[in-house]
Amino acid sequence: MGWRDYPAAPGAGTVLCELAAIPDGEGREFVFGNSVSGVRVLIVRRGDRAWGYVNRCPHNYIPLNDMPDRFVSFDHEWIVCSTHGAVFRYEDGFCEDGPCQGRNLEALPILVENAAIVVAD
Ligand code: FES
Repeated sequence: MGWRDYPAAPGAGTVLCELAAIPDGEGREFVFGNSVSGVRVLIVRRGDRAWGYVNRCPHNYIPLNDMPDRFVSFDHEWIVCSTHGAVFRYEDGFCEDGPCQGRNLEALPILVENAAIVVAD
């Protein structure tokens, strides 16, 4: 399943937030649509860069976080799944360790444009 297969996926050009709205090294969740056909997305930021992923662990296909906007390790090195501790790289969502090692979070294409995070083509 690709990002565009989600009925509630935001279109290219959708502004998610200002880059500065996400503290450096942290993550934030955005929800599009309803609980049936909607999609939950997380954005992580490092400096002036940001990456977007569907908030669904490739291990059990459940959301990564157990508290609002808690997605990363204390040292801001990894995206972490709160259920069984899988750790993913910010840069490409690759799972370095955990029960889904070697798999990836599903990417949401975004870019930083005029200090805002925008859905890309
Ligand atoms: S559900 Fe994410 S590591 Fe198990």
